[in-house]
Amino acid sequence: MSLESALDEYPKELKLRDGLTCEARPLDPGDHAAFHRFFTSLNAPELLYIKHRVTEPEVVRAWCASLDLGRNLPLLAWSDDAIIGVCTLHQSLGGWKRHIGRVSVHVHPKFRGRGLAQALVGETVEIARACGLEKVEAEFIGTQEGALKVFGLIGFSELVRLPDYVKDMQAITHDYVLMGLDLLTDDEYAGAG
Ligand SMILES: CC(C)(COP(=O)(O)OP(=O)(O)OC[C@H]1O[C@@H](n2cnc3c(N)ncnc32)[C@H](O)[C@@H]1OP(=O)(O)O)[C@@H](O)C(=O)NCCC(=O)NCCS
Repeated sequence: MSLESALDEYPKELKLRDGLTCEARPLDPGDHAAFHRFFTSLNAPELLYIKHRVTEPEVVRAWCASLDLGRNLPLLAWSDDAIIGVCTLHQSLGGWKRHIGRVSVHVHPKFRGRGLAQALVGETVEIARACGLEKVEAEFIGTQEGALKVFGLIGFSELVRLPDYVKDMQAITHDYVLMGLDLLTDDEYAGAG
């Protein structure tokens, strides 16, 4: 399967634990205003892992205008014309990490605790598998216990923890945690040898 055929499944309806249904689909260039509104719902420490200055509307507009879903695929969850969550699959498409996708997820504060992150990360892992990636990874600081739990529930395990390795915006050091998940089946591993 390819990225294109994996994306044929979208838009897709996701049913959350409390009965809320939302629509999942990849980011479209026309989504820039809704995407900017979504980012303004997050607090500053939660934006630390996003390289772009997403609280500035023109930055989000430019970002959306130059979308390359093969490199960065933001899968959005929508409810009532608003974005309530996003999970992004980052691919390097070359170099020594070309077989590894990186996953990051953010959920609107009002929609947390309903299984949305778990659903979006699960969808994204399946897209990564369809793209032929062999592994997915996700990066955290040690205090993100909720996020570590979400990824753990999906099957990610801690690959490395470097004590006091990264700094937050107040220059306080935190553990760096890398989690990962193998996507190859036992048969594929056997065939790879
Ligand atoms: C972390 C985050 C994505 C979780 O989103 P969410 O939709 O609330 O997560 P889910 O409802 O899918 O949680 C699934 C499970 O993870 C665990 N979990 C989620 N958030 C948790 C928290 N804050 N504390 C403890 N456990 C948590 C729970 O076990 C939960 O299952 P339960 O509700 O049956 O107990 C959200 O809090 C967020 O956007 N945080 C800011 C950004 C971030 O840290 N991203 C991760 C880095 S890539």
